Amino acid sequence: MVVAVVYDSMFGNTHKVAEAIGRGLDRLGAVKVGECGDFTEEEIAAAEVLVVGSPTHMHGLPRDSTRNAAVAKAEADEDLDADHAAVGESLRDWLGELPTGRRRITASFDTRVKRPELITGSAAKGIARRLSAKGYVEIVEPESFFVDGDGPLLDGEEARAEAWGDRVAHECRVLNVL
Ligand SMILES: Cc1cc2nc3c(=O)[nH]c(=O)nc-3n(C[C@H](O)[C@H](O)[C@H](O)COP(=O)(O)O)c2cc1C
Repeated sequence: MVVAVVYDSMFGNTHKVAEAIGRGLDRLGAVKVGECGDFTEEEIAAAEVLVVGSPTHMHGLPRDSTRNAAVAKAEADEDLDADHAAVGESLRDWLGELPTGRRRITASFDTRVKRPELITGSAAKGIARRLSAKGYVEIVEPESFFVDGDGPLLDGEEARAEAWGDRVAHECRVLNVL
């Protein structure tokens, strides 16, 4: 495996964005898209490019409390589905446990409401900060994809996610990292 797209998702929107980004990245070769629990430590260690994304909760990365609130919301609202990732390890914990020290290309994304970032916050910024603290190299600015409240994704966002994945792949090629 060369590229790992790792996501957290409560209602399935970030999951869809992650799959679209994975399609955009496929010119890089082997791309695996999954929740953090879908990857072994060996797979993550072997990945030369790590693309990481989550929903924005309370201005940043989901916490156990906000993930539990999202699951409760999905149980109470028949229009919302709890995505499988909602019950797995949180991305916040997974990022905390990532090994440091090896040069590795990264890109971060989130889903959030389409309002000024000052109001909504952005999980992608928090993800990027954590990856950079591990000594990894950020190849593009963190990116947000927009939902209507808790979903669905706004029109055109899946296509934009695929194009963003393609751009990440392009930057990797330009820098000749693969
Ligand atoms: C507990 C909770 C807190 C949220 N906080 C924010 C927020 O601070 N800013 C924002 O833009 N969206 C916020 N949202 C909306 C989420 O960003 C939205 O549900 C998410 O992008 C949907 O992605 P998912 O389907 O992958 O979970 C929040 C949602 C929940 C459930």
